[in-house]
Amino acid sequence: MTLAIQARGLVKHFGEVKALNGIDLEVEQGKVVGLLGPNGSGKTTTVRILSTLLRPDSGSAMVGGHDVVADPDAVRQLIGLTGQYAAVDQYLTGRENLELFGKLFHLSKKDAQARADELLHRFDLHDAADRGIKGYSGGMRRRLDLAASLIGNPAVLFLDEPTTGLDPRSRQGMWEVIEGLVAEGTTVLLTTQYLEEADQLASRIVVLDHGNVIAEGTSNELKTQVGGDRIELDVVNNADASRAANALQSLSSATISTDEATGKLLIPVTGGSTAIVAAVRALDEASIGIADIALRRPTLDDVFLSLTGHVTEKPVEKSPASGRRSRRGRN
Ligand SMILES: Nc1ncnc2c1ncn2[C@@H]1O[C@H](COP(=O)(O)OP(=O)(O)OP(=O)(O)O)[C@@H](O)[C@H]1O
Ligand SMILES: [Mg+2]
Repeated sequence: MTLAIQARGLVKHFGEVKALNGIDLEVEQGKVVGLLGPNGSGKTTTVRILSTLLRPDSGSAMVGGHDVVADPDAVRQLIGLTGQYAAVDQYLTGRENLELFGKLFHLSKKDAQARADELLHRFDLHDAADRGIKGYSGGMRRRLDLAASLIGNPAVLFLDEPTTGLDPRSRQGMWEVIEGLVAEGTTVLLTTQYLEEADQLASRIVVLDHGNVIAEGTSNELKTQVGGDRIELDVVNNADASRAANALQSLSSATISTDEATGKLLIPVTGGSTAIVAAVRALDEASIGIADIALRRPTLDDVFLSLTGHVTEKPVEKSPASGRRSRRGRN
């Protein structure tokens, strides 16, 4: 296994604020790792250190075999970064923006033009290529941002909230683009507030809170960690709730939570659909009427809630004209 990213004990303070408290992170070559965490947990700080924009106070990190502090130029040759806030110039056209990025990557004028053209086609921006990006939709801007970060054919790509503020369709389109890059062998470290995005794209997930890694694993491992499957049951007569709990006790090795006031029960189970059939049978034998019964796997939202104590703060969906940059400043 080759590691494209390997960080050890990253610490970063901003004055009194401890942004990172000693983070370890590994990303296998060709894989996508999702970095999740509430606002202010240190996601952007981690990405900025790994992409050489910020020096850690202590700890070390290697990207593509190069030390981010000792050899930042070598790292920059290998990476692409799509920041949380758009890096493209409002007053240029899409094509001009990409050609400018090509220049920054020391491509010849001809190569920069060719690369820009190729990326505009690839990201479905060709028709809008010669329009000022002031008139682009949010989804088009994010695609242009991503295109700009791909100018240098990076082996390792950092995506800081690549789909924040996009509508579901544009988000889906962006996921397809990212999946395409990964299929070609690109390594991706992705931060996101959308747990379904991590679920869809990431082979491993790392959860940050207050500058610490508080959990990591595959999406399934994290879901199992918060308790596995459970049956949600609603009995017709609320007063039957404890009788139902007795009838179902043999199905569960964990505590069944019972609410007499609402007639709702939560039964931790293993064995999914077999368990639900057994539950229906047991309730039938005990002549307990069922108003509703469902099997529920924990979602990543449940994982996040149980780990961090709060639900994800989904960013407010803004219209492109309102500009994310002015609302929260650059970081
Ligand atoms: N340049 C800076 N100066 C001072 N404090 C900073 C700076 N950059 C980050 N911080 C602080 O460090 C902590 C971590 O910030 P960071 O931007 O890494 O969080 P994040 O997980 O990316 O949050 P978000 O989900 O809001 O993007 C926060 O408390 C933030 O206020
Ligand atoms: Mg951030």
